[in-house]
Amino acid sequence: MILVTGGAGYIGSHVNKQLHKKGYKTVVLDNLSYGHGDFVKWGTLERVDLSDIDEIKRIFKKYPLEAVMHFAAFTYVGESVENPQKYYLNNLKNTLNLLAVMLEFEVKKMVFSSSCATYGNPVEIPITEDHPQNPINPYGRGKLMVEEVLKDYSAAYDLRYASLRYFNAAGADPGGELGENHQPETHLIPLILDAAQGRREDVKIFGTDYSTPDGTCIRDYIHVTDLADAHLKALDYLENGGKSEVFNLGNDNGFSVREVIETARRITKKNIKAVEVDRRAGDPPVLVGSSTKAREILNWKPRFDDLDEIVRTAWQWHQKI
Ligand code: UFG
Repeated sequence: MILVTGGAGYIGSHVNKQLHKKGYKTVVLDNLSYGHGDFVKWGTLERVDLSDIDEIKRIFKKYPLEAVMHFAAFTYVGESVENPQKYYLNNLKNTLNLLAVMLEFEVKKMVFSSSCATYGNPVEIPITEDHPQNPINPYGRGKLMVEEVLKDYSAAYDLRYASLRYFNAAGADPGGELGENHQPETHLIPLILDAAQGRREDVKIFGTDYSTPDGTCIRDYIHVTDLADAHLKALDYLENGGKSEVFNLGNDNGFSVREVIETARRITKKNIKAVEVDRRAGDPPVLVGSSTKAREILNWKPRFDDLDEIVRTAWQWHQKI
């Protein structure tokens, strides 16, 4: 049985679905502060907050857990700058609670939800796993701190982990059961689709004077179902005795904000109004990863690897929410 923390969230819920497709049983641990109870359509939902160590122990006593997939975290970069304590308590301290209980109950495999935000401003593109990690905000620093903790615990306590550094998660379950629904929403693709639906008047383009071909930021968008596949491969890898590792997960391909808006206009056939505004603080011009390591070691290959597919599945979902 697999414990999926944050399994009511965007990425965790897609992974929970994939786990069930592959025959795993799961327990979803989520405090539902941002997650959606109705995203937990598979396995058992336990409404628990990771700040409560006795509650975590109760879960580990109740279920025969073999591994943990840890998604539970706050994810607003801007908010992490305004209120770092909120991020360090939840994303770092509560992860230490979870790890303490894992060690006590001898559950020694973890797939950890890390981020390309641990790299900070890239000095080289594409970003490989050995690119320097100099995060520029508390969100990225907290994720990096957990990676460092995992390294030390792995050396000292025989715990094995896979830290997965996602680039820009996007798209929705092609089966139409799950998708992206952040409250508040800050991510580009759902905001564009809001504008397509007329829920927002327009979408803002944050900065048009970057040193990129069309002046707008370039990101590596990776379909959430492909991310989910990679988590299952990482779990297999650990179950087959693989040593602790970090992996980038992206499409090795970047698209500019303008290209994403153009794609959405084509797919939705809607007139999406775009308004050019100033840069958003803390956005590097280009973030594109190299996921060669995950392709080689995990034998992972993204299936929804073009932007049209990503936007099409997102749109299919978005019209239902
Ligand atoms: N953008 C706009 N207008 C918007 C929203 C976004 O132009 O209304 C631009 C941003 O400036 C950026 C790109 O679209 O260039 C993508 O922005 P997102 O907010 O969708 O995603 P980020 O690239 O900011 O994602 C970052 C990190 C991830 C991290 C995530 C947390 O790359 O590692 O924030 O939510 F996990």
